[in-house]
Order: sequence, then structure tokens, then C-alpha cells
Amino acid sequence: MKGFNTKSRWNKLLRTGAWGKERGEFHKKILKYLPKNKEITVLDIGCAVGHGTIELAKKLKKAKFEACDFSNDGIKKAKGLYGKKIKFFVHDVYKDKLKKKYDYILIIETLEHLKNPKKIVKKYLKSCKILLVSVPYKEKELWKEHINRFDESSFRDFKELIKRVIFRKPGSDMKLILYIFEK
Ligand SMILES: C[S@@+](CC[C@H](N)C(=O)[O-])C[C@H]1O[C@@H](n2cnc3c(N)ncnc32)[C@H](O)[C@@H]1O
Repeated sequence: MKGFNTKSRWNKLLRTGAWGKERGEFHKKILKYLPKNKEITVLDIGCAVGHGTIELAKKLKKAKFEACDFSNDGIKKAKGLYGKKIKFFVHDVYKDKLKKKYDYILIIETLEHLKNPKKIVKKYLKSCKILLVSVPYKEKELWKEHINRFDESSFRDFKELIKRVIFRKPGSDMKLILYIFEK
């Protein structure tokens, strides 16, 4: 639907605090796909206000976390909340390039909102060793903001795709699929 995935709408949503701390629950589920006690670098793309990223940063004490979003209001809020532990920056996946490489890149519940998800996966695979992407699984009726539907066959042509895991979304009947890409 027109206007749902715009920067101004996300800015408003993130500024007003409608994006709650429950958003951290799914990030907790992907903790086991990140190594504990290792000095890894991690970038969380589409981090909103950082409620999810902080759940990982709290547990993986040796990892260095960065997180980005195209919403400048979201990033401003994230810096105020969690800027001591995580380096936040504004980044639009359609327009911007990353300045460095990371061990892990995460894209959590974001690709369903974006055009050309395969192109985006290809782009960020170039900047990491492991890419973790989670999206709603087999949505029957697409949520009004979602423009892509995903299942086991999505990304099957990627030689880097090593694993798919299906989860129940915490606090909901919805399912999510996690794709793990490794170079
Ligand atoms: C559904 S939210 C998910 C946020 C977070 N990953 C979570 O799980 O709570 C999608 C996020 O993608 C961001 N986003 C949308 N389009 C983007 C773009 N072109 N570049 C970067 N971030 C974008 C939005 O601002 C929003 O924070």
C-alpha cells in the first residue's frame, strides 16, 4: 500500500515510541546462531531504535555491535537509549554503501518491507562472513506494509545459503523463517 514503507512513516512510528521493547524477543532467539565469547563484529541493519540489538549486545560481551537504519529519528532515539554499548548510524539500504566489513550482518524482520530482497542479500553478503536474515514465513495475507512473501524456496539459488530455521514468533501465532548465509 502506498506510503507505508516511507522514511517519514518510519520516522513517526519510531519517534512516538510505538516500537516497543517486545521487539527484543526475537533477537534473543537468534542468539544461538552467534558465537559466545568471541571477539566478533556484528552489524544489525534495520535496527529501528535498537531494542533488538541491545538484547544481543547484553549477552555477547566480547562482540562489537553496530546497528543502522534509514530512520534518522529511530537512530537518534537508539543513540540515547543504547549508544554507550552500540555504535548507531543512519544507512539506507537502497542508497548507501558500508564503509567496512563485519563478521556477521543481521537483517531482522526488514526484508519483507523492501523491494528486491535478493539484490539486498547479494549486496550485504559482500560485507560479511555470515548473514542472518529473518522474515515472516508463508504469510497467507500480506500485512499491509509487507511487499514480499517468503518460504523455503526463497533464496534457494544462493550458493551461500546453508540453513533455514522456522520459528514461532514470540507472543504471536505468526511464524518466522531465518535464512543463514555463509561465505
Ligand atoms: C519491521 S522494522 C524491524 C526493526 C527491527 N529489526 C526489529 O526486528 O525490531 C523494519 C525496519 O526497517 C527500517 N527500514 C525500512 N526501509 C529501510 C531502508 N531502505 N534502509 C534501511 N532501513 C530501512 C525501518 O525504519 C524499520 O526500523
